[in-house]
Order: sequence, then structure tokens, then C-alpha cells
Amino acid sequence: MNSLATFMDWLKTSQKTVVLTGAGMSTESGIPDFRSSSGWWKNIDPHTVATVTALENKYDLFHEFYSMRLTGLEQCQPHDGHYILADWEKRGFIHSIATQNVDGFHTKAGNKHVQELHGSIQTFRCHQCNESSTKEAFIQKETCQECGGVLRPNVVLFGEALPEESWTITLKNIQQADLVIVIGTSLEVYPVNQLPTMTKGKTVYINKDANPNAAYFDLIIEGKAKETLQHMQTLL
Ligand code: NAD
Ligand code: APR
Repeated sequence: MNSLATFMDWLKTSQKTVVLTGAGMSTESGIPDFRSSSGWWKNIDPHTVATVTALENKYDLFHEFYSMRLTGLEQCQPHDGHYILADWEKRGFIHSIATQNVDGFHTKAGNKHVQELHGSIQTFRCHQCNESSTKEAFIQKETCQECGGVLRPNVVLFGEALPEESWTITLKNIQQADLVIVIGTSLEVYPVNQLPTMTKGKTVYINKDANPNAAYFDLIIEGKAKETLQHMQTLL
């Protein structure tokens, strides 16, 4: 049986399917990923902007980077692939999504069971006292109304721990899954890159580029997220 036919068989027969997505899920919405040739980290050293050190010692650089990402995001919308995953959840083909993306597009497309393992760029807080804030206040570089601290998006930065509840829920889902579908991630970043090794189920890697990190997967489908999901949708 060819890879696609095998995938469709697994998808239809699986009792609990978990989808894990990365930045490659949103590049067809116009949002750059990180490590591809056109990715964010090709021109910016992530450790200079996406870390707590940057937030605390180079706030102007940190603010400029995340403001730029926010402005770019305003022009972008979930693509058909996001909506297909929402349809698959509605029809019972997938149980839940765990994402490293902070764009909120899985929820915006209609998925109800989404774990945002790297947080969200759509909500904001004071870095010192955790008081909630707003996108407008962050963009305007205001300080916290409660304590005067600096404002930040609720993105998990390098060196920070992941949201504990999201991680715990995701780990349970992955361990119980009989199919884990990984879409559009380089599997470069710990600890999310460990998740596919923690399931007893079958593992499928859908990615635009070949990736040695995925050598252990049961099935590898090379292709773009939106196009591949659209093709699969015609077979359901
Ligand atoms: P790390 O040093 O463990 O990085 C793991 C891998 O990612 C390494 O291969 C490293 O080369 C690469 N890497 C490190 N920082 C990067 C960055 N900013 N952009 C691209 N690649 C990067 O990273 P860490 O400081 O120990 O962070 C790990 C903790 O931070 C984990 O809990 C991780 O989930 C969390 N975290 C990281 C990111 C992120 O942007 N990668 C986002 C959310 C959460
Ligand atoms: N379809 C399928 N795969 C794609 C597409 C697409 N349209 N576009 C890009 N890809 C693939 C790339 O080939 C790459 O392997 O998606 C992967 C994206 O990998 P990264 O850019 O490393 O993004 P990600 O894995 O999500 O990064 C993890 O690193 O810096 C942090 O916080 C950031 O959460 C992110 C984490």
C-alpha cells in the first residue's frame, strides 16, 4: 500500500489521534517559520530576541521583534489546512492538537481541543507581576498599570518552562494515542521534540523538507501542510 493509502487507513481506524504542529503549519498563511531558508532565525539570532535575557536586558530589541511579528500576523489568516483539521476534529478523525505555534490559528479555525505548548502571541501580561495586559498597551510600549513593569506577549521564551497544564494534558494524550501526526516542525526544540517518541501508537511525519530528526517515524510524507491535507480531505 502506498504511504497515502496507509495514512488514510490509519486515520480512519485510529481510536485516538493526536496532531502535533509547528511553524510549517502556518507558512502557507504567510507566517515565516524559523529554520527554513526563509525562516526568522536565518536573519536573527534567536538567543538575542526570543529569551528571558533579551526581555530583561534588551527590551527595545525584544519589543521590536515581537511587535514586528504581531504586525505581520494581522495580515494573516488560517488556511484551508487549519480548517480541514477542525473538520477532522468535528468528524471524530482527530482527538486533539498540540502546537508549538503561538498564532492561535488552530482555535481560530474551529478546533476545540488545542494545547498551545509555546503559549500565545495574542495575549499579554506584565513580566514582573503577571497582571494581564493588552496588545495595544504592548505595541505602545506602555508599562504595567499595576507595578510599572515591562509588558510581554504570553509566548514561552527559550529558557522558560512550558505551561505545566498544557504539557501534562499533551503528554497524556500522546501516551494514549494510537496515531500521532506531526506536521511542519523541524523537531529541533526540546522538550516538544521528544513527544513523538513517547507514544505507543503509530507516528506520521508530514513536512515540506526531509528531516533526519524524523528518521524513526513509522511513515514520512514529504509535502506542504495545506496541499497535503487538502488531498487527504478528498480521500475521506
Ligand atoms: P535549548 O538550548 O534547549 O534549545 C533546544 C534546541 O533549540 C537546540 O537545538 C538549540 O539550538 C535550539 N534553539 C535554542 N534556542 C533557540 C531559539 N531561540 N530559536 C531557535 N532554535 C533555538 O533552548 P532552551 O533555552 O533550553 O529552551 C528550552 C526551553 O524553552 C524548553 O522548555 C522549550 O520548550 C522552551 N521554549 C523554547 C521556545 C523556542 O522558541 N524554541 C519557545 C517556547 C518554549
Ligand atoms: N508544509 C510543511 N512543512 C513545512 C512548510 C509547509 N508549508 N513550511 C515549512 N515547513 C517545515 C520546514 O521544512 C521545517 O522543517 O516546517 C518546519 C519548521 O521548522 P521550524 O522553522 O524549526 O519551526 P518549529 O519546528 O515550529 O520551531 C520550534 O522553535 O524558535 C522556536 O518558538 C519557536 O516554537 C518554535 C520552535
